[in-house]
Parts: sequence; structure tokens; C-alpha cells
Amino acid sequence: MNGPLRWEELVLVPATPAQAKLTWTRTLCEWGKGLTLDQYHEREHVLANTDFARDNLQVYVLVPKDDPTTLDPLAHCDVYKRPCWQLLWSERRGDPDLPYCQLVEGDAYSVASVFCPPEYRGCGYGSVMIRQLYALLKQNRTTPSLSSLYSDIGPKFYGRSGWVMYPAEQINVPVSAQVIRPLSLQRIKRLTDPMAVPLIDQDCADLKRRLITMGFERSQRAVDPGYVKSNSVLIVPNRATYRWHWARAIYMGPILGATAPECVGASVPRSLAMPSAEVGPSFMLWFHDFAAKALIVLRTRLAQPSDLELLLQAATDEALAHQLERIELWSLEDPDTLGVVTSMVRLSKIPAYFHAKKIERTHSLPGLATFYSDTLADTTISEWLCNDRYAWV
Ligand SMILES: CC(C)(COP(=O)(O)OP(=O)(O)OC[C@H]1O[C@@H](n2cnc3c(N)ncnc32)[C@H](O)[C@@H]1OP(=O)(O)O)[C@@H](O)C(=O)NCCC(=O)NCCS
Repeated sequence: MNGPLRWEELVLVPATPAQAKLTWTRTLCEWGKGLTLDQYHEREHVLANTDFARDNLQVYVLVPKDDPTTLDPLAHCDVYKRPCWQLLWSERRGDPDLPYCQLVEGDAYSVASVFCPPEYRGCGYGSVMIRQLYALLKQNRTTPSLSSLYSDIGPKFYGRSGWVMYPAEQINVPVSAQVIRPLSLQRIKRLTDPMAVPLIDQDCADLKRRLITMGFERSQRAVDPGYVKSNSVLIVPNRATYRWHWARAIYMGPILGATAPECVGASVPRSLAMPSAEVGPSFMLWFHDFAAKALIVLRTRLAQPSDLELLLQAATDEALAHQLERIELWSLEDPDTLGVVTSMVRLSKIPAYFHAKKIERTHSLPGLATFYSDTLADTTISEWLCNDRYAWV
């Protein structure tokens, strides 16, 4: 190529099958550590054929306008389409003084594997791709939609192209056999994939119901003097989302000398003494990151605060069984909010004997872009509910 191409000469297009395959070969060096090229292709093939990705993954390539099928694209990325729920403010027809807030179902576009080959870096291609992607997502939406991503390169690169960057706190819990109390373990139920499904479905139904109520409550308060309106968004924690993470662990385990994990989480069956609330039991779902030697919590749902201790003991037990060294949590909900949380991690809720530590992540910084129209939404910042690890791609 004769010098860097100018942005007017470039276009972001859906990849051809050959271009999509090429992106796997290229990204091995970045995201395939410990894998041969064949293994990496096989893993990506497995993941691309999960329910999460099969009909919802679009690979985009940045190419010269006059050579769109080139097998030497200048940059590329993956975009997964998935459901999201949003609480959005609208003007009441004919009465702008009485806005209302309601649940709107839309699409989330999760961006991943943003990559520019080393020989093309620093020429602006990555930035051109991300700006074109933002414009494309904004223009193609059919419903109020959003885009999420997790930056490993700080907040600036995505922050200047339309994504608002969110806090990235996490709790690390060292794995130690000393915290296990056998009597506690008897009170929890270890979950396999099929056992987790009804909990996941009930969780989604609970979350949706709670959002509808929140929208109603917010609408009523809109007339209060000084009330500040905010939108809220939530990426739906459905079965497909979890299974994509579990497929990765099942593939990676045997390759890295571990057994393929079967236990995907734990739940605390409801005790008879508990009041019959409309929400389901407490549970924690996780996946095994064998390369990082960590048990990664995807989502924790607490029906009562004391269940957290039991669930962390179960997680410790599972981590020990697979020689994992720590448990990572991105978010811990406040049971008072009935299962809808912001991206807060609450160290104070974890008993001291776990020796948990809160850290500020420098990788996987959450970013969110929202694409609205015909609502008051554009004027307000969005609150990201349940900004937990399950939403990561
Ligand atoms: C990130 C990446 C796509 C950027 O592509 P690029 O074509 O070099 O990007 P541009 O030339 O448009 O811009 C580069 C900007 O990103 C910044 N950047 C690139 N890599 C960075 C890193 N690891 N940490 C922080 N900033 C980084 C550069 O400092 C530069 O900022 P500036 O414009 O303010 O000087 C490319 O470096 C890459 O593929 N890296 C490896 C994979 C990766 O980390 N992807 C991101 C995953 S979230």
C-alpha cells in the first residue's frame, strides 16, 4: 500500500466468510494465548455456533471502498446483537409537562474483538472503524437501541467516539479451603446447565416486572419539584448469554489440562421461613477461566443478604475443585432493590473471613452508547442496571 489511506477512501462493511475467517487467524496473537491456530479457530467456531452468536454475530471489516472483499482489511471487529430493556422517558402526547417513563424492549449491540493488524497501527484506522461503527449502529436501529463494549485500552479510544465509559470496580476473593463450612454447603444446591435454566428464566421475568414497576413509580414522581429524570438500561441476562460463557470454559478446560466443568453455579433453595416474595431464590452463576485461574461470577441474585455467604462458600468449593486461585465479582446487588442494580460492588456485604479485596480494573472498562429518537431520552444520561460480567463479550 502506498502510504496510509484517508478516511474518505475507507468503508466499514459486513465481512465476507473468507474475511471473517481471516480475522480469527489475525487475532490469535491477542486473544488466543496458550492455543494453537487450529485450536483457536476451533474455539471461535464453537462460540460462533452457540445460540448467542449463531444468528446474531456480525463481523465488520474496514476496507478500501474500491476493494471491499480484500483479504487484507485494515481493521475489524465483532458485533453481537442481543435483547435489552430500557426505561425511557417520553412526552405525554399533547402535554409536555407530564412526561412518563416506560419499559421499552430494544436491541443491544455488543462490540468485541476490535483489532488492527500491528503493521497498520497508529495510522488512525482503528479510530475510523469505531467512528463508522457508531454511525452505522445509530443509523440502522429500528427500536431504541444501545451498544455496549469493554475496553482493554483505557477510556479514551471509545470515549471520544460516542461510548460513555462507566466505573470498573471488582471484588477479588482469594480461594482458601479455610473458609469452607461443611454445614453451609449442605444448604446450597449445585447447578448444572439444565438446572440453572428455570432460575435464569425466572430471574429475567422478575427483572422485567421490576422495571415496569420502576417506570410507573418514576412517572408518578415526575411532577415532584426538583425530580431528576434518568433513563435506565439493562442487557437481558438470558440463557443464551450464559451458555456462550460456559461453552468457552468447556472448550478451554481440557486444553489447559483441566476437566470440562459441569457446575455452572449454585442456588439457595428458599426456606419455609421466608416470606413469599414475588422474586425467585438467591443464586450465583459463574464460569471457569482456566487461563486466568479464576472463577468468574457472571451474575449474583440475592433474595436475602445472608445468602451471599453461602453462595461464596459454594463458589470457593467449586474453585478448589478446579485448582482456581480466586473468585472475581463485578457487581453485587442490594437485595432491597429486588434484583435491579447498578454497577456497584459492595465489599461491605462480604464477611471479613473471605479476605475479599476491592480493586479498580484497568481492563474491561464498560462503555455504553445509546441511540434514541422521539423521546426525552437524548437529554439524559443512562443508568446501566445489572452491569455485571454476564454482559461482557
Ligand atoms: C486498539 C487498536 C485497534 C487501535 O488501532 P489503531 O489503528 O492503531 O488506532 P488509531 O491509530 O486510530 O488510534 C490509536 C489510538 O489508540 C490508542 N491506543 C492503542 N492501543 C492502546 C493501548 N493498548 N492502550 C491505550 N491506548 C491505546 C493510541 O494511543 C492512539 O491514541 P491517540 O489517537 O490519542 O494517539 C490496535 O492498537 C489493536 O488492534 N490493538 C490490539 C488489540 C486491542 O487491544 N484491541 C482493543 C480491545 S478493547
